[in-house]
Amino acid sequence: MHRIQQLAADVLGQVESGHTLTEALAQAQRSELTPQERAALQDICYGSLRQLARLRFWLRRLVPKALPEPKLERVLLVALYQLVYTRAADYAIVNEAVTLAERLARGKFKALVNGVLRNFLRQREEMLRLADKDLEAATNHPRWWIKAVQQAYPQEWASVLEWNNSHPPMTLRVNTRKSTVADYLSQLQALGMAATALDASSGIQLEKPVNVRELPGFADGVVSVQDWGAQRAATLLDLQAGQRVLDACAAPGGKTCHMLELADVQLTALDIDPQRLARVAENLQRGGLQASLQAADASQTTGWWDGQPFDRILADVPCSASGVVRRHPDIKWLRRPGDFATLARQQAQMVDTLWGLLASGGKMLYATCSIFPEENQQQLTAFLARHSDAACLEQQQLLPCAHHDGFYYALLAKH
Ligand SMILES: C[S@@+](CC[C@H](N)C(=O)[O-])C[C@H]1O[C@@H](n2cnc3c(N)ncnc32)[C@H](O)[C@@H]1O
Repeated sequence: MHRIQQLAADVLGQVESGHTLTEALAQAQRSELTPQERAALQDICYGSLRQLARLRFWLRRLVPKALPEPKLERVLLVALYQLVYTRAADYAIVNEAVTLAERLARGKFKALVNGVLRNFLRQREEMLRLADKDLEAATNHPRWWIKAVQQAYPQEWASVLEWNNSHPPMTLRVNTRKSTVADYLSQLQALGMAATALDASSGIQLEKPVNVRELPGFADGVVSVQDWGAQRAATLLDLQAGQRVLDACAAPGGKTCHMLELADVQLTALDIDPQRLARVAENLQRGGLQASLQAADASQTTGWWDGQPFDRILADVPCSASGVVRRHPDIKWLRRPGDFATLARQQAQMVDTLWGLLASGGKMLYATCSIFPEENQQQLTAFLARHSDAACLEQQQLLPCAHHDGFYYALLAKH
């Protein structure tokens, strides 16, 4: 087990130095691991980042002075996570952490790790109680983030933070060209996979996540995995056969495929990242769908736009991703307060360029997976002030809950 602890501690270190959890975990999982070890590593990494403020709170109480070695801190954080949140035996967790510490500096920190963890075990109940009384530890978010959510959502802030710490549901989108929600539900039931319909058209929530390979028809594009909130985008765009559609930030292509499943449109899927664009190609192929793919910057038109206006544009812009923290618990630790202003500037520049590509009478959907007003309502207000030919037809701010993540949509019409 100490190998898993070591890999998990390394992943925490990578995230601390600015890498995403997805990247760091993928790197760690390149080591030879059994499927069980792989699953345990994933659980420890996601769990430790979900509970990080709590784990740090306990560590500060157990070791008030700075630790002699940063790696040691990560070893202890991982072990504390395992002691509180996993079913592994306490003695085994402590022994493995001690073994790991021994390897770190030829036995120097063995006694320290052993002492800290045994001390925690002696005071476990008291430690849990104290953490519940501390705002940062109880909600498991950085203080500045808590304040920002409190300010934006004086009523809902506590539930938003709580949902961010939950395990996300696995939600499917049924391809209505190939099946129906009712039909697919009965196929899942026949296989013993409990699930419920979220709506009559496409959304199904599984009771327990499964490997996509177990989903009937997945390889043929009968269903895709997509959050229910994300499924609103294509529907809001009111697509009609024959329209020219631009998906300006398309990768990995969840919404691209949904749009093509809903209507026979001529779709251009653009993304600045060629590697991510390759995932759009894979998803299109799985669904037997067609689109023109362009690796280009949506903030400028040179080199990719043929001068023909689009009838519909989806601007699913890069954002703080503050609405999908439960799927990416590293986000709350990687972001900095100044990020929102920078992101808002980039988003504004991108939507201004895209607005120029929209036909008169056309519609553009501005979308983020953010819950912060700087990227959403405030962005919309500023956009409307800059563009007298724009009207907002509809605006939705979704907050994370049992059935969907946090998203923002503003549907704009051009006259
Ligand atoms: C929120 S994700 C899009 C998710 C996608 N629409 C889906 O539903 O699967 C944002 C995407 O914008 C891309 N992106 C970032 N800056 C861009 C730019 N200047 N031009 C085009 N794409 C960009 C990123 O590579 C990323 O794939």
